[in-house]
Amino acid sequence: MKTPLCQRLGCELPIFAFSHCRDVVVAVTRAGGFGVLGASTFSPQQLEAELRWIDQHVEGRPYGVDVIIPTRYDQASEDSTEDLRALIPQVHKEFMENLLSQAGVPALPAGEKERIEQEIVDGRGNMTPDGARRLLAVALTHPQVNFVVSALGSPPPDVVAELRDRGILIGALCGKAEHAVRHIAAGVDVIVAQGTEAGGHTGEIATMVLVPQVVEACGEGVAVLAAGGIARGSQIAAALALGAQGVWCGTVWLGTRESELNPFEKGVLFEARADDAVRRKARTGKTVRMIKSQLSEAWEQPGAPSYLPTPLQGILYNEAHARVVRAQRKDLYSAPAGQVVGMINEETSVRELMYRMQTEYLEAVERLQRLNDSHD
Ligand SMILES: Cc1cc2nc3c(=O)[nH]c(=O)nc-3n(C[C@H](O)[C@H](O)[C@H](O)COP(=O)(O)O)c2cc1C
Repeated sequence: MKTPLCQRLGCELPIFAFSHCRDVVVAVTRAGGFGVLGASTFSPQQLEAELRWIDQHVEGRPYGVDVIIPTRYDQASEDSTEDLRALIPQVHKEFMENLLSQAGVPALPAGEKERIEQEIVDGRGNMTPDGARRLLAVALTHPQVNFVVSALGSPPPDVVAELRDRGILIGALCGKAEHAVRHIAAGVDVIVAQGTEAGGHTGEIATMVLVPQVVEACGEGVAVLAAGGIARGSQIAAALALGAQGVWCGTVWLGTRESELNPFEKGVLFEARADDAVRRKARTGKTVRMIKSQLSEAWEQPGAPSYLPTPLQGILYNEAHARVVRAQRKDLYSAPAGQVVGMINEETSVRELMYRMQTEYLEAVERLQRLNDSHD
């Protein structure tokens, strides 16, 4: 399974794990894959603590960091010194409050509400180029970080130049072949071709269609990772057959023992089917594939207020989400997850999952080999 990209990055398996959870990043990396920590939910201080912990547990292996550098972002909210909550219209606050209180979801205790608000204030600037630069400044003090990936846009020239100088490989997510062409022009080395099946912010083109288009657009020098809808070894074999040099998975780690989700949240994922993972704007104001619930659907109904721009919709949503999780209300639980959520039915360890993926991959390759042999 080892591809040229594994050689360049120093891992044994071309299985890349995107996760906001340091335990997943460490477990995947120690199992021979390549863990990438999603940094955008951390303040620079928190990120420093997470990376220091990863450094200590990853047995000297390299790993990656992912930041969000959107092409379009709300500069006003980045610049604003106002309480961001004050920018949320009353009608939106009332809509969310009525939804939850009519469903009998208790308000958060005072301390908890403030903690969540503080998290949002700390992370408010992360999803702009300057916010990403602040996070990268932290990541660059950790020499085991040899891969930096940007989502929602190409990294700006100064970021590319600095990463290049330090010999760090640069990746970027794309949902269309045109995006890949722009990323390559910006100096990106690895394109993560993310199909619509994926959890999180996602476009409209399916992985099976997108990957060969992106591989063709990239040509020889730029490696492609296939993302979206990959949870089994047979899907890894398919991705490599399409010309990818590896797979980039997110949803599949959510159900592992190492995942940051609590037992209630994992239970919702294990029950969800593939068609419960829908694209909605309720979480961030941008289209995110997430678990469908009464909360996500209420915002789609006629008469609902229009979605707020990022980050304001996220502020409303985060607090509501914390209430729902605390009350363990499955009917209102919506969190990012891709269509492979329908293939995850029980908790496993990362190590077991990595082993299973490799076994399934070998079975798939042998199946194909038998097809060839039958023609001899
Ligand atoms: C819970 C969750 C959060 C995500 N957050 C981010 C993010 O902050 N940055 C990013 O580049 N991708 C993010 N993604 C997308 C992943 O990087 C990845 O492309 C996607 O999960 C792959 O598809 P899959 O979910 O079918 O495995 C997220 C995905 C999930 C499931």
